[in-house]
Amino acid sequence: MTTTEHSAPWETPYDTFSTKWNHYPRDVIPMWVADMDMPHAQVITEAVMRRMTENRIGYPGYGGKRLAEALVARLSERHGLHGLPAGNAIFMSCVPGLHATARALASPGDAIVVQTPLYGPFLDAISTARLQRQDNPLVPGPNGYEIDFDHLESVITPATKVLMVCNPHNPTGRVWRRAELERLADVVLRHRLWLVSDELHNELVFDGPYVPFASLSHELAMRTITLTGPAKTFNTAGLSTGITISHNEALISRVRAITHGLVSGYPNVLSEAAWLAAITTPEGDAWHQATLADLRANRDQLTAFLHDHAPRVAYHPSEGTYLAWLDVRAYDWGKEKPGDFLLEHAKVGLSDGLGYSPTGAGHVRLNFATTRPVLDEALNRLKPFLA
Ligand SMILES: Cc1ncc(COP(=O)(O)O)c(C=O)c1O
Repeated sequence: MTTTEHSAPWETPYDTFSTKWNHYPRDVIPMWVADMDMPHAQVITEAVMRRMTENRIGYPGYGGKRLAEALVARLSERHGLHGLPAGNAIFMSCVPGLHATARALASPGDAIVVQTPLYGPFLDAISTARLQRQDNPLVPGPNGYEIDFDHLESVITPATKVLMVCNPHNPTGRVWRRAELERLADVVLRHRLWLVSDELHNELVFDGPYVPFASLSHELAMRTITLTGPAKTFNTAGLSTGITISHNEALISRVRAITHGLVSGYPNVLSEAAWLAAITTPEGDAWHQATLADLRANRDQLTAFLHDHAPRVAYHPSEGTYLAWLDVRAYDWGKEKPGDFLLEHAKVGLSDGLGYSPTGAGHVRLNFATTRPVLDEALNRLKPFLA
């Protein structure tokens, strides 16, 4: 897959299988849910087809061991996350992982602390587990959103049991730097918290590097559960797989107890074939590099557009993910439900910021993982409202 192929004229991907493209009427450009419009890698198609034609879709006796080993090797070689035992893993996609880890590490009445705004299912996982949520709102700094460490200390109470982190961060697109993670790690260790780190966007990084939380120290790794998967990097969300993994066997046993009988724990064999092909073949790598280049170009196009045509939008270019977090509170229409306003008037479907905690009011999240003609058209539609 080359950049040129990605940039080919786009054919409307309306079809009955796409949440992204079916949610809104056909005259709306959807830039909401985190799916890419780019086709997935051909090597994934071939691997899935091969698994079918070879008649190998029965229960996998090895429980996903090969995949876990390949993933652990990649995290070690590419990202410096060493020593993860491939066996300390449960295969499930990240949202179930958020719910299961919240329940495994805290009991009703306990609290989980998060940096807001934050991907809605974190908030949902905390509330459905009947846990208290302690919000530490991110603050805009000169180089993007920053963690307010003083405020973080002030919200932590004896009830706080877990810190949940999104790294890279959805919706702001921040890729947390080592120094920031080290300060968070210090908080985790001093307050003896557990750490759940959702690193699903870990290989969608433009300005990094991505530092896996559990790579900081052995002591921290023993308090950490990491969630990741192929859904964002390789655009396979509908294959619904991911991994919940830790250096600490006792933590994974607690998650196993919560998920026992509810999730199989091994990967669906077609998603396994897809994920293995994506992370172990040169074709998977080539696709990934081409896709990152396209996403970076889109990010840069969006940044230039906002700079030239949207003087009142506060935006820090996303360092990772394909999501842009736009503060539109300076516009009359931007204070309340700006997503609804832009849907009705610009015919662009964005995610309204309120879905990411109350601090998201007056913001929208824009998914720029689309082809250039679609991005051009969307920006043209938004232009008169952002002037
Ligand atoms: C940070 C984050 N976690 C989890 C998910 C969803 O994960 P999954 O599809 O693996 O359940 C998303 C989807 O956008 C996400 O951005």
